[in-house]
Amino acid sequence: MKSPVLLLATTTAFFPAYAFQLPFKLPFNLFSSDSQTPLIALPEVPETQTIPNRVAIIGAGAAGSSAAFWVAKAKERYGLDVEIDVYDKNTYIGGRDTTVYPYDDPTLEPHELGASIFIKANKNMWRAVDEFGLERVGFSGEDEDDVMGIWDGHEFVLTTGGGGFYSDWLDKIKILWRYGYKAPTKTQALVKSMIDKFVTLYEPSPPRWSNITSVANDLEWLEITAQTTAEYLDSQGIDRRFSRELVEAATRVNYGHDVDKIHALEGMCSLAPTGASSVKGGNWQIFEHFIAQSGARVFLNTTVKSVTKLSSKVPWIIQTASSSEGRLYRAVIIAAPYHQTGLKVTTGSSDLAATVPEQPYVHLHVTLLSTSARTPNASYFNLPPHAEAPTTVLTTHDGVRLRGRPEPEFNSLTYHGHVLTKEGEKRLTETGEEEWVVKIFSKARLDDEWLRGVFGGKVGWVLRKEWDAYPVLPPTTEFPPVKLAEGLYYVNAFEPLISTMETETIAARNVVELLLKEEYGAGLCKPGTTEDEVGASSPREHDFVYGWDC
Ligand SMILES: Cc1cc2nc3c(=O)[nH]c(=O)nc-3n(C[C@H](O)[C@H](O)[C@H](O)COP(=O)(O)OP(=O)(O)OC[C@H]3O[C@@H](n4cnc5c(N)ncnc54)[C@H](O)[C@@H]3O)c2cc1C
Ligand SMILES: *[C@@H]1O[C@H](CO)[C@@H](O)[C@H](O)[C@H]1NC(C)=O
Ligand SMILES: *[C@@H]1O[C@H](CO)[C@@H](O)[C@H](O)[C@H]1NC(C)=O
Ligand SMILES: *[C@@H]1O[C@H](CO)[C@@H](O)[C@H](O)[C@H]1NC(C)=O
Repeated sequence: MKSPVLLLATTTAFFPAYAFQLPFKLPFNLFSSDSQTPLIALPEVPETQTIPNRVAIIGAGAAGSSAAFWVAKAKERYGLDVEIDVYDKNTYIGGRDTTVYPYDDPTLEPHELGASIFIKANKNMWRAVDEFGLERVGFSGEDEDDVMGIWDGHEFVLTTGGGGFYSDWLDKIKILWRYGYKAPTKTQALVKSMIDKFVTLYEPSPPRWSNITSVANDLEWLEITAQTTAEYLDSQGIDRRFSRELVEAATRVNYGHDVDKIHALEGMCSLAPTGASSVKGGNWQIFEHFIAQSGARVFLNTTVKSVTKLSSKVPWIIQTASSSEGRLYRAVIIAAPYHQTGLKVTTGSSDLAATVPEQPYVHLHVTLLSTSARTPNASYFNLPPHAEAPTTVLTTHDGVRLRGRPEPEFNSLTYHGHVLTKEGEKRLTETGEEEWVVKIFSKARLDDEWLRGVFGGKVGWVLRKEWDAYPVLPPTTEFPPVKLAEGLYYVNAFEPLISTMETETIAARNVVELLLKEEYGAGLCKPGTTEDEVGASSPREHDFVYGWDC
């Protein structure tokens, strides 16, 4: 996952030259060992120095990388003098978005291990692909005959043909509709109205917030975050079977939740419309470009341990695991789920952990494998031995709920096309067989024996990854704070409302604007400017996107 566009700073070069530009004299007793403050080495510095124009971003995923990008855009437009440092404990940029190579072979086409898809209404991601010269690819496998089935742990309650779940969602809705469901069109209308609200976030003068409840309220979403997806669809008169099977298949594959557990806004997000795409070669390239464009310094493989502000007049001090020395900042952006960071955040004498409510995450097992079995083992799915099992298997909890059937052993099992070389050629096994890449999401580990059974013993490469994937998302109208203290902002407060790559870039934009306003009296866009007027002789190729076009 190395990219030529980046010059990555390493941990060991922790900028000793910059680390000690203390702008003031700190009273020594604040650093005594019996205080809660982390012990750092203190140089003698003149009192005349000012708080450094430097912003720290903790996390280099969608949120942190885009935060750096937004700060840099503002720097350009306002001529601000501000340095950006980005820290990540991983050795790569992308966080929950990263790719792997089948057989760990870099000559093969990589596959997403975490976040995979975004849609056209995700205007930051979409735009970034175009601006950065990347290539979008449709999400479905190459196989047009791909069959999708919804498995309840005992039988398929529904199967449909053709294309992958995401790209052909609408087609499938139509098929179902032809088969007599009225629910799909109504559900689609609900999704559309959600998306219509969502895209107002890109308009000139979009909503800005320091409180997520208030933006959810402005977007008229509080009513739907306050109920489960099941309750919401029931209240809209949508057929129970449709919500418990088809909608649930979507909430289970996208968020690892059943429809009666997940709030209805995230449930609606799971029903992403057509046009789902990913970036060829990996979505993380967007995030690398964000950071490269920002000119930020990047400290990878660097765990931030503490974020400390001793009094209102002094800068924030960041300490990492790899250095006993602190580095000073005017403002800090936390761009990772707070309680997963292990950060100790202190202002004055108070620890801020209590200000961010505990947020459980769905612990998801991702199993990526290659198999020469063209379809999974039909017998596993209680089909006749020579039947062909679907190659996209989604699941419903309804078998358990209604019939006391066993819980499906996985959330989703999807074929993602052939094992391909980077040139797009099928790569054959040593015995000359074609192989497919399969991705399985499950709540528990799937052992080798299980995999052998489901793929008839024909398993090649296997990679297992556990993620704290997305928040547990029960109905709620309360969200974490966006601003934790003066000069300290929290992007991932947005995740319990919606957790996607795109919404993290929007939440980052909002936090950056708040920071710029409060610390610099600036913003992301100068009032009354539209950038594409500058030298734009050709008609605008894109939708207006706030932050890009101003
Ligand atoms: C299997 C899976 C499938 C998904 N599918 C999709 C999808 O199809 N589409 C979609 O849009 N979203 C999807 N998501 C959700 C999506 O991945 C997240 O919403 C999004 O990537 C979160 O980005 P982030 O930058 O906020 O957080 P992260 O990507 O988690 O980034 C946080 C970063 O902070 C770093 N960090 C944490 N603590 C510290 C510390 N103390 N010091 C230094 N660094 C630290 C971490 O190493 C991490 O890199 C999926 C997630 C998973 C796991
Ligand atoms: C956030 O906004 C809601 C509704 O507007 C309000 O009830 C709540 O008190 C606000 N919370 C904070 C921390 O300001
Ligand atoms: C990460 O840092 C540790 C020491 O802190 C080092 O041992 C390790 O090799 C580094 N890993 C990479 C990939 O740079
Ligand atoms: C297919 O699945 C059935 C039922 O789980 C199992 O008994 C059988 O051994 C599997 N077939 C192969 C070839 O592994």
